[in-house]
Amino acid sequence: MERPAWAPQGIDISVPSVSRMYDFYLGGSHNFEVDREAARKAMEFLPGLPKIMQANRAFMRRAVRYAVDSGIDQFLDIGSGIPTFGNVHEVAQAADPGARVAYVDHDPVAVAHSQAVLEGNDRAVIASADLRRPKEILATPEVAGLLDLERPVALLLVAVLHFIEDADEPYAAVAELREALAPGSLIVLTHASYEGIPLPEEEAAGTVGVYKNIRNPLIMRSHEEIGRFFEGYEMVEPGLVSMPEWRPDTPQSPEHEDPYAFSGFGGVGRKA
Ligand SMILES: C[S@@+](CC[C@H](N)C(=O)[O-])C[C@H]1O[C@@H](n2cnc3c(N)ncnc32)[C@H](O)[C@@H]1O
Repeated sequence: MERPAWAPQGIDISVPSVSRMYDFYLGGSHNFEVDREAARKAMEFLPGLPKIMQANRAFMRRAVRYAVDSGIDQFLDIGSGIPTFGNVHEVAQAADPGARVAYVDHDPVAVAHSQAVLEGNDRAVIASADLRRPKEILATPEVAGLLDLERPVALLLVAVLHFIEDADEPYAAVAELREALAPGSLIVLTHASYEGIPLPEEEAAGTVGVYKNIRNPLIMRSHEEIGRFFEGYEMVEPGLVSMPEWRPDTPQSPEHEDPYAFSGFGGVGRKA
């Protein structure tokens, strides 16, 4: 198999990766046939997957603008993925050129591609680290060198926690991050759920099976379970809701028209 220049040496390009599958759903070009094959299989069970991803990205951009409007100028985006268009630093720095953005991902392709995209931007960095080890994230030279944790930060955990199994203690990891942030900080989070999917759970579960087969568990959590990631933070109105319902730019945006966009939940919490 041919290895394009953007694919780092040492990565296994015969095994699908969630970040490259996500890139494919969003219409990106940083994916291989193995990724496309797995993504197409997942879409056989859940044909609306790209719509869910688009609603996720649209939520993320509105939440970043909300954070800038609330005076936040530092962003920590964990599980940031392969940059397609409209990334956090583009949205944040368009609204506030002084905004600083630290991206974190554990996928080497996401890290390599982010490095290329961020070249020349001295207020945006990418660190290679794992959400399951939050102390290491905060200690990376990239994150520690760019962000001042004594001041408010918007922590983005967007479409990433559903890849962390309970056995890997996602609640403990998020609690450590919550505690490390200064008052006034925000958590911006989305998470997959069976709630809201316009299909019977038995059908949608086929998608979970596809991720399981590629050794990347997709953990569906309930509204209540997802809400627990915000423990101790105040929910920003309108709370943890379907992604198109979170502060829409217009009452009837394109994602409002697709029932799949209402799968899963998004919300923002603030540390008092
Ligand atoms: C579905 S993508 C989401 C990308 C972006 N946050 C968004 O919503 O557009 C999930 C990303 O999380 C990353 N990821 C999964 N588990 C992770 C972990 N334990 N630590 C860091 N990143 C992780 C994957 O590599 C992938 O790039």
